Amino acid sequence: IQSDLDFRPNFHFTPDSGWMNDPNGMFYLDGTYHLFFQHNPDDNVWGPMHWGHATSTDLITWEEQPIALEPDEHGTIFSGSAVVDHNNTSGLGDGNTPPVIAIFTYHDAEAADAGEDDFQTQGIAYSLDKGQTWTKYEQNPVLPNPGIKDFRDPKVNWYEEDQKWVMALAVQDHISFYSSPNLLEWERESDFGQNMGAHGGVWECPDLFRMTVEETGEEKWVLLVSINPGGPNGGSATQYFVGDFNGTTFTPDESLNKIGEEHDYWIDFGKDNYAGVTWSNIPETDGRDIFIGWMSNWQYANEVPTEQWRSTMTVPRNLKLKTDGDSYKIYSSPVKELDKYIVNTIEKREMQVSEGTAITTDSINLAKAHLTFDITNLEDKTYEFALLNSVGDTLKFGYDHNDKQFYVNRKNSGLTGFSETFTEKKSTATRTSKSENLPVEIILDKTSIELFYDNGETVMTEIFFPRRPFETLKVVGDDSFIIENVKINQLTLN
Ligand code: FRU
Repeated sequence: IQSDLDFRPNFHFTPDSGWMNDPNGMFYLDGTYHLFFQHNPDDNVWGPMHWGHATSTDLITWEEQPIALEPDEHGTIFSGSAVVDHNNTSGLGDGNTPPVIAIFTYHDAEAADAGEDDFQTQGIAYSLDKGQTWTKYEQNPVLPNPGIKDFRDPKVNWYEEDQKWVMALAVQDHISFYSSPNLLEWERESDFGQNMGAHGGVWECPDLFRMTVEETGEEKWVLLVSINPGGPNGGSATQYFVGDFNGTTFTPDESLNKIGEEHDYWIDFGKDNYAGVTWSNIPETDGRDIFIGWMSNWQYANEVPTEQWRSTMTVPRNLKLKTDGDSYKIYSSPVKELDKYIVNTIEKREMQVSEGTAITTDSINLAKAHLTFDITNLEDKTYEFALLNSVGDTLKFGYDHNDKQFYVNRKNSGLTGFSETFTEKKSTATRTSKSENLPVEIILDKTSIELFYDNGETVMTEIFFPRRPFETLKVVGDDSFIIENVKINQLTLN
């Protein structure tokens, strides 16, 4: 049976030891991508939160750094963001390098235990060495609690038009927007979301940012909102809203005005992509909106079968906004930096496949692979695939064109007994693309599959714990079909 060592991903970020949840405070500066994360360094379950820290020059290979933020007299350190204060609006700079400011939630566990409501406040810390070491602001908190239990996860961006900072904050069942000239004094601007979108759980980890529509070049604003529970396949997931923002108010597009509990606007329909937000300070010359999520689900995150560490991040993804009738959709795809780790590619122009056909051979290590192919001329069939190993573990996934459903079924995928919610039911996603051709992109690591369908219009990310490594990818359903433009990329990474 595999264990910790064998479950440690090859190229997805995971802390050396201890617990991890949400990605926090991501920013880019001078060639380095910073990733902070919710971290309990002393145990492999959630506990007193710190900000762990890792850096990378290419978003793929990460180097863990010393812990960035530790709990203090105001509380433990919950999720938040970081910005580069180029104009030194905060006055916290030293005149040499622009200060980097982290804005996070203080969680006062004792006050919470004592039954008080105002135990979450927002604090800041600053770094004068480009994010390596941090000093807490002496007059924390900068945003006190108005008497609301869930008041957290500040994500801050610069709003050029008004020369001010805008904070999106998760407040129970809605997002509140605050603004500030200097990151120190905050004023409430507006609220959004009480009557819109999914509300099966508490709203968390928002992100408000501008996106350019691919086809038209028009500018829109996107608001990511994580929700737990209430995701489309149970537990935690991240929904999004597209609209406009005028520095004060977020107005969702009219076409989205009616979206209720059930909708198609999820960043990912798999069970394992939560609390994701985007990097700040990506240079304009790059222009990407780069996203990373926590590759787990609050339903079972504390129970997955690893010991030394718990939890992994998704592969970083590039987000695009495209028109979709009278509304818009976010498309995700793995960042292009992954390509430079391709060492070997097997290509087949066309494969006629049926039950039992192997798409990959033993020479491919499926614990670090990137695959693409197209299913052309869709018919009313089930296009079913499975990852298999020598002891009979099976991770099934595919697309049923009869009812337009993508699915992932990890029922027999190996170790599953740690939580009923892990295999309760297969995960599904309704296909929204109308195209007769279905492009499929798959990222495989030791314990995860990330499925990008229709160029990332529908994404499913799920984790698994096979007893032996998965060895082949086969077609397993009754239906036979053709796949085209098959590319199996072996990655060199660990
Ligand atoms: C989301 C979340 C955040 C909170 C953090 C605590 O997963 O619940 O709302 O800040 O995790 O670790």
